[in-house]
Amino acid sequence: MAVREVKLCLLGEAAVGKSSIVQRFVKDQFRPALESTIGASFMTKRVEVDGKHYAFQIWDTAGQEKYRALAPMYYRGSAAAIVVYDITREQTFRAVKEWVSELRKNAAQDIVLAIAGNKCDLEDLREVPYKDVQDYAQQKNAIFIETSALTAVNVPDLFIKIAHQLPPE
Ligand code: GTP
Ligand code: MG
Repeated sequence: MAVREVKLCLLGEAAVGKSSIVQRFVKDQFRPALESTIGASFMTKRVEVDGKHYAFQIWDTAGQEKYRALAPMYYRGSAAAIVVYDITREQTFRAVKEWVSELRKNAAQDIVLAIAGNKCDLEDLREVPYKDVQDYAQQKNAIFIETSALTAVNVPDLFIKIAHQLPPE
């Protein structure tokens, strides 16, 4: 059985829910009291998409500013990057734009880029309009999806969309 290995990293401000998205995807769990990531953590997950097998090798980076300089170690050599923001905090979307420019400059030229607007279960607290990010993502040729690690909405879809967009081997 052919399995395609896909190295992937998650980037974005602290507390936007990167680790929670990974927990949801890998274990289908949500742990409300997850500790803030130190450095980075690594997990793997095998999935079948349209009859093809993928082994995602996931680097979940730490969003705290003091770890910022480590990021290139994880996104260099990544086939895909997920830049996460929190739909209830405008400032976390501004950080997405910085990550996207950095990736377009320094990551692999054919990297699959996805922007995930997490915590979409908190609609009442929304600060970032869907349409703004949709337009922005289109301009940057990035996948865009709103997710909730809490309710699981769109979390598998995020990874399926990435699998669909990988360049031919
Ligand atoms: P760092 O590791 O510090 O970079 O943070 P992170 O981006 O990994 O965030 P983490 O997954 O630790 O989640 C931060 C907080 O947001 C936690 O209190 C989570 O329970 C909460 N959270 C994560 N995802 C969701 C979500 O989809 N909805 C809601 N309501 N809360 C969420
Ligand atoms: Mg984390």
